[in-house]
Amino acid sequence: MLCSGGGTNLQALIDAVEAGTIDGQIVLVLANASKAYALERARQHGIPAAFVSKKQAGSDEAFNDVILDKLRAAGAELVVLAGYLPIVGRQIVRAYEHRIINIHPALIPAFCGPGMYGHHVHEAVLAYGAKISGATTHFVDEQVDHGGVILQRSVPVLEGDTPETLAARVLTVEHEILPESVRLFCAGKLGVDGRHVHVL
Ligand code: GRF
Repeated sequence: MLCSGGGTNLQALIDAVEAGTIDGQIVLVLANASKAYALERARQHGIPAAFVSKKQAGSDEAFNDVILDKLRAAGAELVVLAGYLPIVGRQIVRAYEHRIINIHPALIPAFCGPGMYGHHVHEAVLAYGAKISGATTHFVDEQVDHGGVILQRSVPVLEGDTPETLAARVLTVEHEILPESVRLFCAGKLGVDGRHVHVL
């Protein structure tokens, strides 16, 4: 698991693993922010957790090499980006082709791509006047928010919504489709055919 912030998506996965609905285990949580509460959540559940500093690594390339080394050392077979902000290095994408799942707080291909993360997404949805939004899980490829879509779930945009109220409504469906996507992957029920992901 790669995280950057509060880790509510991580928590949803921890809960699903502990409830036995996911046939797998979380072997490592890495965060690019030392104060990311996601690290604390992992530690509270006895999951190995580490801060990886881009500054200390010295370059994007070296930073992603450190992450890849740690993923391999932990024996990770699937990488889940749960509120992870940096762009994943191509060496990781190539090492884990069709084995990196990202959660995006909008209905891709709408409101996604470079710079579209966190509150920026919900501000753009409201500014545009969209009537629905939602969340998307997808496999990560070498472009941003571009890989094959796994699951999507929509929520209404309501009169008077603020970026915060919309974010909270989207977060509830994130916490549903991310564990479901990981459950399907671990059960071998995700078939990939080019851009298309089939639930088998
Ligand atoms: C939220 O904006 C969420 O929509 C996106 O990442 C951010 C933090 O999520 N997926 P989390 O609470 O750290 O999982």
